[in-house]
Amino acid sequence: MEKREQIYEEKAKKVYATEDPALVIVSYKDDATALDGLKKGTISGKGAINNRMSNFLMGLLEKEGVPTHFVKELSDRETVVKRVSIVPLEVIIRNISAGSFAKRYGVEEGIVFDSPTIEFSYKNDDLHDPLINSYHAVALKLATEEEIARIKEMAFQVNKVLKAYFAGLGVTLVDFKLEFGRLPDGTVVLADEISPDTCRFWDSKTGEKLDKDRFRRDMGGVEDAYEEMKRRVLGG
Ligand code: TMP
Ligand code: ASP
Repeated sequence: MEKREQIYEEKAKKVYATEDPALVIVSYKDDATALDGLKKGTISGKGAINNRMSNFLMGLLEKEGVPTHFVKELSDRETVVKRVSIVPLEVIIRNISAGSFAKRYGVEEGIVFDSPTIEFSYKNDDLHDPLINSYHAVALKLATEEEIARIKEMAFQVNKVLKAYFAGLGVTLVDFKLEFGRLPDGTVVLADEISPDTCRFWDSKTGEKLDKDRFRRDMGGVEDAYEEMKRRVLGG
């Protein structure tokens, strides 16, 4: 698979065309942003960890019946994925209160919910990714009602699989963000990444944060947290 022209670059990734119009190559960077891009930095080794961890988790999800964009890992940082048209929604599942949920509703972090919650944000940098409900998403033609129903079903299935998987590694899956894309035939598949950038992971015993919150909140030990998640998921 040959890398051709760069199609676009985002905060943490570059995307390249290939000789096959149905496939693109994603290249993961060490760059990190937070607070709507206000805070910038690098997390050394993050690109390779996120690439390999995300690919591993997508493989696991495929086996559990969740279709994804994943095709083939090319190297530490590069992966071939199916070219999709991204549904412009960030889909957030929460098992425990944290982050913007705790802030918005004025509650502490760490409240364990009886059942998981779902919310959507409209992916739009100019508007700073505002919260949106499914009726508004349909009204704005961001997705159809059927697509939203399918996205919800897949997102809760991802939660079920990943929550159990991480529990086995001594990691509590607090919350995470997913993105979905459409294949040319209209099938909706899981896209983007699943990594410490996009999930909150707490050590089940100590409660220690093992994710990007260490960067967002200037806690230090960012690289070590990513390394620890890599060790638990991928070994070595
Ligand atoms: P939040 O509590 O800040 O809304 O974040 C919820 C989850 O979504 C958390 O695991 C981090 C992830 N997330 C992203 O992956 N990208 C984003 O831009 C935001 C705001 C959150
Ligand atoms: N707000 C997102 C985060 O906290 C990322 C970003 O601002 O680019 O992870």
